[in-house]
Amino acid sequence: MVEVSTSILNVKKEEALKTLYNLETAKTDYFHIDVMDGKFVENSTNELMLEYCEYLNSITNVPLDVHLMVEGVEDYIKSYLAFEPNSITVHYEAAKNIEELKNWLNQIKENNCKAGVSIKPNTKVEEIYPILPYVHTVLVMTVEPGKGGQKLIPETIEKIKQLKEYIENSGLEVDIEVDGGINLENVQEVKDAGCNIIVAGTAIIHTENYAEAIKKLKQ
Ligand code: DX5
Ligand code: ZN
Repeated sequence: MVEVSTSILNVKKEEALKTLYNLETAKTDYFHIDVMDGKFVENSTNELMLEYCEYLNSITNVPLDVHLMVEGVEDYIKSYLAFEPNSITVHYEAAKNIEELKNWLNQIKENNCKAGVSIKPNTKVEEIYPILPYVHTVLVMTVEPGKGGQKLIPETIEKIKQLKEYIENSGLEVDIEVDGGINLENVQEVKDAGCNIIVAGTAIIHTENYAEAIKKLKQ
């Protein structure tokens, strides 16, 4: 059974308290916090995500799954470590080189937080093989990062399969999390490809019954 990490990127501010409470009651496994800086991706969500993390930490123990779509990564790691998240994921494409990426991952792990690396649709899976021994999770983007409500890019499914096979053949213990455009139509194909955690925003937030939507995605 996969775990579900609900993206709160498109939660309406004026309904946030109710929505976040209802998502907790609906038993989301994680809250997926999409942090965008307006540089690595066009949108800027940092202020709002800080506010939501503040609030979530005051009302629930549901773990936070932070996805940093930013440049200047170190400062953002520091800001979000303050909320004691379950995991912080950085983008492979934001690092100048493997050494810098490893430093970010260490900064996260030294603070008792799981470290993840994310790859955009056009980044080949082979590029992150050298970094796999240093991460808990690979976040495979099935859309171009930057906004919610996009369609899953079918070619990315093959990447999940390839990554799963490599992880198994290497005897590594790395989770595969998949993010972007996941819904009831494509979730089975994504699960069959070998992921452990799915991120969903639109497929949950835009439904009448969050618990039902989460249950169906997990089945
Ligand atoms: C996109 C974000 C995703 C997105 C998921 O940059 O990383 O987490 O918000 O939302 P849906 O499920 O609507 O694609
Ligand atoms: Zn995300």
